[in-house]
Amino acid sequence: MLKKWKKKKKSKLLAFTLTSSLLLSGLTFDIASAQSQNSTTVHQAQTSAKQTSTSYLTDAASIDSVIQAMTLEEKAKFVVGVGMPGFGGMPPFEVVGAVGGTFGIPRLGIPELRFADGPAGLRIRPTRPGQTQTYYATAFPIATSLASTWDPATAEAVGQAQGNEVKEYGVDLLLAPALNIHRNPLNGRNFEYYSEDPLIAGKMAAAMVNGVQSNGVGATIKHFAANNQETNRNSIDTVVSERALREIYLKGFEIAVKESHPWSVMSSYNKINGTYTSQDADLLTTVLRKDWGYTGFVMTDWFGGDNPVEQMKAQNDMIMPGSATQSNLIKTAVESGTLDEKVLDRNIKNILQIVIQTPEFKKYQNTDKPDLAAHAQTARKAAAEGMVLLKNDMMPLPISKEQKVALFGNTQIETVKGGTGSGDVNAAYTTSIVEGLKSAGYQLNQSLLQEYKTYIDTLRSQDQYKIKPSPWGEDFGKLIPAIPEKPLEDNEIAAASKESEIGIIVIGRNSGEGADRKVVKGDYLLSDAEQDMISKVSSEYHKQGKKVAVILNIGGPIEVASWRDKVDSILLAWQPGQEAGYAVADVISGKVNPSGKLPTTFPVKYSDVASANSFPGTPAENPTQVIYNEDIYVGYRYNTTFGVKPAYEFGYGLSYTNFNFSHVNISEGKKFKDKLKVSAMVENTGKVPGREVVQVYVSAPDGKLEKPAVELKAFGKTKELKPHQHELLQFGLNAKDLASFDEQENAWVLEKGTYTVKIGASSEDIKETATFTVDHDMVVEKVNEALAPKVDFGRLTK
Ligand code: BGC
Repeated sequence: MLKKWKKKKKSKLLAFTLTSSLLLSGLTFDIASAQSQNSTTVHQAQTSAKQTSTSYLTDAASIDSVIQAMTLEEKAKFVVGVGMPGFGGMPPFEVVGAVGGTFGIPRLGIPELRFADGPAGLRIRPTRPGQTQTYYATAFPIATSLASTWDPATAEAVGQAQGNEVKEYGVDLLLAPALNIHRNPLNGRNFEYYSEDPLIAGKMAAAMVNGVQSNGVGATIKHFAANNQETNRNSIDTVVSERALREIYLKGFEIAVKESHPWSVMSSYNKINGTYTSQDADLLTTVLRKDWGYTGFVMTDWFGGDNPVEQMKAQNDMIMPGSATQSNLIKTAVESGTLDEKVLDRNIKNILQIVIQTPEFKKYQNTDKPDLAAHAQTARKAAAEGMVLLKNDMMPLPISKEQKVALFGNTQIETVKGGTGSGDVNAAYTTSIVEGLKSAGYQLNQSLLQEYKTYIDTLRSQDQYKIKPSPWGEDFGKLIPAIPEKPLEDNEIAAASKESEIGIIVIGRNSGEGADRKVVKGDYLLSDAEQDMISKVSSEYHKQGKKVAVILNIGGPIEVASWRDKVDSILLAWQPGQEAGYAVADVISGKVNPSGKLPTTFPVKYSDVASANSFPGTPAENPTQVIYNEDIYVGYRYNTTFGVKPAYEFGYGLSYTNFNFSHVNISEGKKFKDKLKVSAMVENTGKVPGREVVQVYVSAPDGKLEKPAVELKAFGKTKELKPHQHELLQFGLNAKDLASFDEQENAWVLEKGTYTVKIGASSEDIKETATFTVDHDMVVEKVNEALAPKVDFGRLTK
């Protein structure tokens, strides 16, 4: 039910003022710098005095004096990046393909830093004019695939490898990980993001940041926040409740900030409740720094926001990629008294505290030779670990090497490693599914393969389908126009099915930055040719008593309900990075037993998505505003609460073995004091080794606040269990983990009543439950009032 909902608040004055924030940050200023805002003459005198100063950036203790020694012009330049290579005649950086650079002030010992994307790997240009040396980076599986591992250790290993490439290629800060919520499956950039659930997103991002930063380089969590679509991303106003923000859209960032201390946070392009995130002190100062204790620096997304002075005031410390106009506006604002110079000093201090940790500051001599072979193995392992077995009736998978295989579908050859845009990676190669299966020793039907090769080569030689440099520039991979699925002749299918024991159909999709996906054939829906391929291949193989498997090489959910009954197996391989084919072969062959679980719901039909009616906003032809009417009911929170059955639910994924769950126990007994430990035993009851994910959901009682039917509160993954082997997993939950956000109180509260802990193998497959009670309402954590919507809007309630 959609209810008009108006917040009744105790009137409370926002306690925050710039003065108090400066006091908090512990800065003190001398009289000269306090005067410096008032007159240009004073500035000039001060400038020459500063130039003779002996201040030099050596360590944290030197930062204040370095800031004092900076001229206003230097300050205004330092908080603004040096521009975007390839834009406005700007030449590339020495690390070609790095997208951002900071202004260095050699006389004060401040080096220039280099930033590069993220998140599936380091994105730099692989070749440099006049050099034979190459600079390829490893393309790891996309974030959604990593999240499907439900294994933060895998994300950390990938982060470690990525961070090593960042360091060895001479970059200081990786512009990743990205952890926006999968609010709607059509977001073109969902592949860069982890999940519809903030706990998964936060834990995976934290693991990734910890991995990256273990190398002594920085990670950037982005895009902060509520950046959940590409349509009009630079101007869209996201209208959303404080509760949905705190519980869903900010929660992952809160976890990542607290558990991994990222060097940087990137604000997003969109507005939240009327204000650009990069200009929103509520978001960047009150929530991020005061509520969560963040101590790194904040940068804008590239060309984000529209007011550099407001960005400075909000504590968006660094404007990227930066322009002289922005520096000038900041300088003029200080000179005219509309921007307090102390605000600049505060922001500069935030940045310098990170600068002193960078490889550039420490004069690290990068080798330009990361261990790409080792990282390829990390990518392959992670990719296989993230694959989700959606269907396997009568166990056609795994396929033994003796079985003859026929592969259908263009994507067996043109396998998709990852999405497009800034999240693309210039990898040395992508192993296709054909190559992967071949090298694993499978005998593939050669005549069918040849027909696919000829078809693809013919189309690719036509102008319309030629692979071209990316319109975004040489650093952004290639533009690969999608070619229509090869139509199949009946005799082709008949011949291939007679000569093989199993048919494998590969379905591929790609999407990327700058555009959302659409509910049309060939995108969210299968094309007619794909439907035809599935129908005809399945019926021919089934006639002969043979099986058919589908491999989905996709970056986000597609429609599956109309065709899934026709095939025997479905393996969701996601976009698995450069080792795609090898990783697919590992799972197809049973070398790796699939243990991935969906971090995002596959709906029966698009209209079953809670935000289907409000995405991507209004007016439909050119949205300026998107209202999050579904409120906290995103993904499985919606499905489970409102009884909307998905095609494949959040947390779902099969294995080649079976597991039994038992011994669910709450160790602190039935009454909640301030924390509890939940344990559950998992036993491998099948015939092959495998790993299982234990998902801890909680159903909280409705009180003053209503609660979703279930919410994921913890998860863990077993080690590889041999048949009959078992493992006891334990989970600690504290009051904050269990609390809901009360907008009237500006607090996380734990309401009294009976709570049910549900141990599941998915959000719907609950194996065992246990209950505990909370005797009285508890205020778990008070936070500052922030980010209230300025308009009334309908919010979904039970
Ligand atoms: C993207 C960011 C990226 C930046 C630099 C922007 O368009 O939104 O995610 O880090 O470009 O490439």
